[in-house]
Amino acid sequence: SAAEKGGYDWFMLKEIAEQPQAVADTLLGRHSADGRLQLDEMRLSDSELRDVDRIIIVACGTAAYAGLVAKYAIEHWTRIPCEVELASEFRYRDPIIDRSTLVVSISQSGETMDTLMAVRYARQQKARVLSICNTNGSTIPRESDAVIYTHAGPEIAVASTKGFLAQIVACYLLALYLAQVKGTKYGDEISDIIADIQQIPAAVQRMLDDGDQMRKLAADLAGSRSILFLGRHAGYPVALEGALKLKELAYIHAEGFAAGELKHGPIALIEEGLPVFVVVPPKGRDQLQEKTVSSIQEIRARGARTIVLAEDGDEDVVPYADHLVRLPKVPTLLQPLVAVVPLQIFASEFASVLGHDVDQPRNLAKSVTVE
Ligand code: G6P
Repeated sequence: SAAEKGGYDWFMLKEIAEQPQAVADTLLGRHSADGRLQLDEMRLSDSELRDVDRIIIVACGTAAYAGLVAKYAIEHWTRIPCEVELASEFRYRDPIIDRSTLVVSISQSGETMDTLMAVRYARQQKARVLSICNTNGSTIPRESDAVIYTHAGPEIAVASTKGFLAQIVACYLLALYLAQVKGTKYGDEISDIIADIQQIPAAVQRMLDDGDQMRKLAADLAGSRSILFLGRHAGYPVALEGALKLKELAYIHAEGFAAGELKHGPIALIEEGLPVFVVVPPKGRDQLQEKTVSSIQEIRARGARTIVLAEDGDEDVVPYADHLVRLPKVPTLLQPLVAVVPLQIFASEFASVLGHDVDQPRNLAKSVTVE
């Protein structure tokens, strides 16, 4: 009913709007004023965690993209090598895992069969398994050694939104906790990083308040049969997620690419009028912003219609952006949490304009309990 949807036309729109709360609630009560993290359901001792020399994230769909985002933060803050693998592939390739491998499963529902089977396999191989999950008491956390619950609240729409943001935040809490236990240099900066993450709910709220721009654009582009998404670094999984949302909801061809990979193939796809979203990294020492701006120049010179997501004050992108979406200034590793929001709004509106059921896309299920 309309009341259940909190006045929104679709659960997905309600859940998109709940994202500031989902992020705040997932942080709540997990750190003290002196910057120490406490994760109550961790259940693995500090000495067990100090033994971890490798992390493998297993997940499906949007949760796997949350894992891809998290990989950047986990390796940066902990210096522990981290791989991300689709749960459905994991156990079939005879993966090398042992007691010092931490397998991290991510699942909103906690019931996805592919992910559950990966968890069972990892435990048989004696790895320790920590699960990030949004559903209390579901099967995956019950079968894991430890759990970090995301506190996004129930997610009804098939396409995951607030679950995704909460999963990234939970992965970041895990990464910072490992940094604290291992005593890496970032262990001392935990309170600063947490303070940055605490700014995210307001930053996400701004993206929601600016949502009309995306709704207009979606109505404008609703005739498109194909849309591309580009990103770099932590923005690359955001591009993948933006494309996935559009496939799921609008049933059109959409693909995400790493911007640096453009010249190795995807640039051949660019033709007059093709809409291409580009997530531009914040300016930093690594030149990623500059390199992404030249990718935008390349595709625009070939006729692409560019929709550029760039932080406040980035004037370099202005001459090459047919549509410019402003993002609040946040640290590079936190940018995915704000940049994905306009892409979610775009996909839901695009599907609405086409007359599709936004909450229950054809052929999909909220939780896939078969392999
Ligand atoms: C299904 C849903 C996706 C979701 C994936 C993983 O395929 O349609 O939206 O991302 O499952 O779900 P989970 O509950 O494990 O996060």
